[in-house]
Parts: sequence; C-alpha cells; structure tokens
Amino acid sequence: MHSKAFLAALLAPAVSGQLNDLAVRAGLKYFGTALSESVINSDTRYAAILSDKSMFGQLVPENGMKWDATEPSRGQFNYASGDITANTAKKNGQGMRCHTMVWYSQLPSWVSSGSWTRDSLTSVIETHMNNVMGHYKGQCYAWDVINEAINDDGNSWRDNVFLRTFGTDYFALSFNLAKKADPDTKLYYNDYNLEYNQAKTDRAVELVKMVQAAGAPIDGVGFQGHLIVGSTPTRSQLATALQRFTALGLEVAYTELDIRHSSLPASSSALATQGNDFANVVGSCLDTAGCVGVTVWGFTDAHSWIPNTFPGQGDALIYDSNYNKKPAWTSISSVLAAKATGAPPASSSTTLVTITTPPPASTTASSSSSATPTSVPTQTRWGQCGGIGWTGPTQCESPWTCQKLNDWYWQCL
Ligand code: G3I
Repeated sequence: MHSKAFLAALLAPAVSGQLNDLAVRAGLKYFGTALSESVINSDTRYAAILSDKSMFGQLVPENGMKWDATEPSRGQFNYASGDITANTAKKNGQGMRCHTMVWYSQLPSWVSSGSWTRDSLTSVIETHMNNVMGHYKGQCYAWDVINEAINDDGNSWRDNVFLRTFGTDYFALSFNLAKKADPDTKLYYNDYNLEYNQAKTDRAVELVKMVQAAGAPIDGVGFQGHLIVGSTPTRSQLATALQRFTALGLEVAYTELDIRHSSLPASSSALATQGNDFANVVGSCLDTAGCVGVTVWGFTDAHSWIPNTFPGQGDALIYDSNYNKKPAWTSISSVLAAKATGAPPASSSTTLVTITTPPPASTTASSSSSATPTSVPTQTRWGQCGGIGWTGPTQCESPWTCQKLNDWYWQCL
C-alpha cells in the first residue's frame, strides 16, 4: 500500500526545479528578471532563458518604459522599446513590473531643464502618466511611481526638478496622479541601499508616512538590492529592514537584485560567498509576510549595467557570461526549495549540500552507461545533472562530480 506521503507526491502538480516555479511553490508571487531591450533580439541564448516562464515568471523593462524612452519630446509618445517587454511577457504568459515614472535620471531635458510652475509641472506629470500608464493598463502588476528620491547619505531628499518645483509635495501628488491613470496596478516607491537599515531606510519610512498622511495611495516599497559580495546584510537583518515597511501596511519586493564582486575575476570562494548572499536576500523575502517576489536586474554576467558604472567590478548575476548556472543560481534554488517543501531552511553557511551518491535515474539512456564513456553525454562544471523532471546528462566532465543540492537540482561541482 502506498504511504500518504507517496500519494501526496503523486497527486502534487508537476513543478520544475526552475526558479519561478520554486518561488511560487514557496509562496511568492514571482521570481523575475529585467529585460535588456538592446540584447533580447541579438542573443538567442539570452532570449531562450528569459522566455522560460518556469524560470522567470515576471519581466521588467530595463530602460524601455522610462521617461526618455516614452516621451522624449513633449507630447510625443513612443512605446517601441517598452512594448518589447510587454510583448515578450504576453507571448510567454509572464507577468510584468513596470518601471518607472517620476525619476531624476533618464528624464529628458525638456522636463529636467524646463521652467515650471506647480500647475504646469502637474499637468506634464499627469499627461505623461495618463498616456504611458494608460498604454500599459491591465498589464502591469506594479508601477514604480517614484524612483530614488533620497540622497545616498539618507539625510536629505534628492535634488531634482520635482523637488525644486513642489518640495516634498510631489510625493503624494505623484501617487494620486498614478492612481487616476491606472487604478488597478500596485503603486510603489523604489530605491537602492534600503537593505542596510540605516539613514536611507529611515528616510524611506518617512516618505511612506508622508504619502500616507496626505491620504494618497501607496501599495509597496521596492528594495532594488544592488549589493556587494561579502557586504550583504544577513538574512535576518534584511528581513528586519523589509518588515519596517510591511508594518506600515505595505507590500515589499526585491526589484533589481544583483550582487557584484568588487574585484574580478572572482575566486571560487568569492562565488560561494555570492551564492550565500543571494540566498540570504531571497530567504529574507520568504521570511517576510508581505514580500511578494524577487526580480534580478538581468540574469547573465554577459549583460549588465555594472561594468559601465563600476569599472573593474561585476559578475553580479546568477548565470556566468557563457550561460552556465553559477553557485548563486543553485543557492537561490536551494533556499526556495527548502521553503517549498517545508524542509528546514538552509543556514547561510550550509546552502550547498554535498552528497556524492549518484543522481536519480533519468529517462535518458545516459544514466547507466558508464561502460561506454565515448557515447555518454556529460555536463560541464556548474551544469545541472539530475533532479525531479531532469532529462539531460547525468554525468559530469572530469574532475567534477554530480552532487545533490535539493530534490529538483543536482549540479556538477
Ligand atoms: O539608448 C542609448 C543609445 O541610443 C546610445 O547609443 C547608447 C550609447 O551609450 O546609450 C543608450 O542609452 C543607455 C541606456 O542605458 C540604454 O542602454 C545609457 O547610456 C545608459 O546610461 C543607460 O543605463 C541604464 C541606467 O539605468 C541609467 O540610469 C542601465 O541600462 C539600467 O540598467 C539602469 O537601471 C537602473 C534602474 O533603472 C534604477 N535603479 C538603478 C539601476 C542601475 O543603475
């Protein structure tokens, strides 16, 4: 007779070991990625991974919905770049976060250098929101209504045309106008360095309270998560920062996660530390009721904004530049799988579980043919070599061995 556990496993819906499937199974709404509009049509490997809904359940345009892309001249709207993400998401059945409305950067000079009264700039923001948010109405799970309104030291508001024209009144004004433009999307404040729970986090709490005190609608705060290997806060410190906002009745999400090495090339130990840092970030979201999902700011080290901004730094993502899964991919998969299956959460130092027994037999002939090595497909270092649903190679190139990391994922290490 079958045990209850065996029957439950048989009856459970099929799920892959890919990140979005595991994230949903673990209780999140999505695991997503930014889409680079300049890469999607020129790199087929990039397009294939990005389009796999089991891996990424949600997309965000890296640049295509920003003000300089959508309204480069006053009243001239252009959706060519933003529609790349919208059409890709639609085709693949993926969700979308939309980014971003009121931001000092990638703001065309007709706005940033204009001479405005409160009324005239209100009209400009309203027209921009009505058009752009109207164009994507019904497609955006959330919109970043205001982006990066706080200075890096956390002690003051960032100088920009909006602050100069309205003072801090532009916070509530923007959320009110956004609600009118699309009443059904979630309205977010989005910023970086909130993860450290220091002055900048305090300021963001203050901003949320100002918006709420003005009676304006705000639904969420996005923690961008542009972090540094080895300097990322612990899982519980991160959860504490997130929970300052859920305590105000908001949801939270990691919206632009990447964790860069401050010098390159990264050693294997730095790659393992990066994996633990990613696991801690994702784990903190799992530990926070009201944390809805995690979005990485790109997924392959082949394409990232970081080297342009921080020369000599980078390799901040979960696939290397040859599209091999890195330890970071595996550690995220492990922490999600632990939550999804109710297994005890992996501690930051034991994310990788090394088991040297062979992987489960796959449906391919490759699993049992050690006598004919020349015909056996082998997997490269870091590649997947087993797990529930896996039908690819189950043997690793020498000297790597196939090691179980969780029920869904065995890796050549
Ligand atoms: O579109 C022009 C193109 O016409 C021109 O030929 C080319 C020459 O350099 O530049 C192109 O514009 C670039 C744009 O990305 C699109 O590729 C800009 O120079 C470049 O500065 C811009 O960088 C983006 C950056 O935001 C700008 O602030 C990055 O791709 C994007 O990843 C980054 O994303 C931001 C988030 O929106 C907000 N949070 C921080 C995050 C990282 O900086």
